[in-house]
Amino acid sequence: MRLTTKSVLLGLPVLFGAALAAPAQDMSEAPRVNELEARLNVDSTLFNATIDEEPSDDMLELGRLVAMGGAENGGSGMACVTCHGANGQGDGAGVFPRLAGLPGWYMYKQLEDYAEGTRPNRIMTGIAQRLTEDEREAVASYYAVVEAPWPGPQAAAPISGDQLQWGGQLAAVGSAEQGIPGCVNCHGPNGTGNPPSVPYLAGQYAEYMSHQLQLWREGTRQNDAMGVMETIASKMTDEDMRAVSAYYARVRPGLESVTPPAPMDDGEVAEIETETSDLLSDVD
Ligand code: HEC
Ligand code: HEC
Repeated sequence: MRLTTKSVLLGLPVLFGAALAAPAQDMSEAPRVNELEARLNVDSTLFNATIDEEPSDDMLELGRLVAMGGAENGGSGMACVTCHGANGQGDGAGVFPRLAGLPGWYMYKQLEDYAEGTRPNRIMTGIAQRLTEDEREAVASYYAVVEAPWPGPQAAAPISGDQLQWGGQLAAVGSAEQGIPGCVNCHGPNGTGNPPSVPYLAGQYAEYMSHQLQLWREGTRQNDAMGVMETIASKMTDEDMRAVSAYYARVRPGLESVTPPAPMDDGEVAEIETETSDLLSDVD
């Protein structure tokens, strides 16, 4: 299905402006496949619900290449690491979501949805459309396997104690009065996600998260197969969205101990840069 121009234009101007102002991130730190082995057997990296398959090394290599802006066939024309970071850590301003460790199948589905227009976005729609099927799969499995340090609760925007408490309550039990179910029912007991289809909320940026809830409420993002998120968001006030997002931005169980992979030396970086520019010139 091809997109209409109208749906491509639906993305928010604020995101567009921020993307243009995005600082180029250092690509040299994108972890190599051999550094990822340890995480290959984690649930979120298994590619889909019925096939318990670990991504192959070839797939991860291709994913890493796509993340760095290279490609075999199509390529996105833009390195994912520019906005999402070498380790998929996203950005602190909360415009570019954290991708590290999101379920591979969930991310693959998002790329399909961006491309097909059920999740229209000015930036991601074009990028996803330019990727081949294999590249979408590969880059999704790559980001599912990488792990990035978490900036910690102090990095989240300040919020009052009352709001934070309300956010925690919505997360845990929802609101019977407003007909909102607790997020934990699907997003996992600590918001750590429920692979393959339900993303983590814990440690995601608050700005990004509340923006997604608004997009669902206004009907722009309509890619949730069962429509549950549209329904939930339609019952939430702006205040609820801010509170629950601020709460989740402050919790990230199990990540404190993660050490980012060692940076590469200059020789390795030069080699990757050459590899990438060769591939890019092949594409042109
Ligand atoms: C110019 C900046 C930019 C580049 C380059 C970019 N992205 Fe994004 N990405 C964004 C923004 C902004 C969003 C949030 C859009 C929205 O509101 O849906 C996003 C969202 C996503 C999401 C959804 C995450 C979630 O939690 O649902 C995925 C997956 C993703 N990008 C993957 C990629 C991949 C893979 C690449 C490279 C092929 C890439 N992005 C390149 C800016 C970028
Ligand atoms: C019945 C199951 C269910 C419940 C309950 C639920 N969610 Fe979700 N949520 C999902 C699914 C499934 C997705 C992925 C949809 C898709 O494919 O894009 C999702 C996605 C999201 C996303 C998008 C994350 C991203 O990375 O873009 C946000 C934000 C979100 N949910 C917030 C919440 C909040 C807040 C609550 C509680 C008030 C909640 N959800 C309760 C099933 C649920």
